[in-house]
Amino acid sequence: MKSPIILALDTPQLDVAKRWVDCTQESIGAYKLGLEFFLTHGSEGVKQIQAVSDVDIFLDLKLHDIPNTVGKAALQVASLSPKFLTVHAAGGQAMIKSAVISCPDVAITAVTVLTSLSENDVQEIGFKGNSLESAVDLARLAVQAGAKAIVCSPLEISAISEVIPQHVRIITPGVRPSDETLNDDQNRVMTPKQAIDRGAHYVVIGRPITRFWETGADAMRDRARTLVEELS
Ligand code: C5P
Repeated sequence: MKSPIILALDTPQLDVAKRWVDCTQESIGAYKLGLEFFLTHGSEGVKQIQAVSDVDIFLDLKLHDIPNTVGKAALQVASLSPKFLTVHAAGGQAMIKSAVISCPDVAITAVTVLTSLSENDVQEIGFKGNSLESAVDLARLAVQAGAKAIVCSPLEISAISEVIPQHVRIITPGVRPSDETLNDDQNRVMTPKQAIDRGAHYVVIGRPITRFWETGADAMRDRARTLVEELS
């Protein structure tokens, strides 16, 4: 089975990103390239990652604009054939549909409520429910518009899986391996295993794997291997 771990290639250095792919690919299901990477290296950078090996790409651009603009932006990256392309569910059904039409072979992936937002932020922005209720509403809306995957917090997996069809993939960041000693900025985390047991199909992991690069490629390879073994 393909690994459920999506590794966040959070580095602006293309060479480093390529070496991370090279040493972890046996244990990783897809690689997440975000705004920092894409704004630095563009489509050419994505192609260079794909040239290391035929890996699946999670292109995390979080598109959010009027439907026409998002449709045209999505069309620009359709030829890269990412497995996943993210849009903000809050952009509404017409916007999500526009991305789906532009990229029929890509899983348009809807980001629900950013987990960086506090309950207070959620109220201030004007969501009608709390963050859990809002995430569930946004997931439902996104799937109706054709989204094939949902990004949510581990705490929202169970509630969202009750309202979406089984073929829709649930992807969650905000996970930390049980032995992780990294003291960082993620709050309210779950272990990857807990997230998968609750119904996530993929977990996004960054620093708990990439920090091993400091020790060397073998250490990073072993870390990724251990984490994927813990999930099986
Ligand atoms: O290093 P770490 O494991 O925290 O990386 C997780 C990745 O997932 C980062 O690229 C981060 O931006 C992203 N992410 C997150 N929490 C969210 C949404 C995305 O950590 N709620």
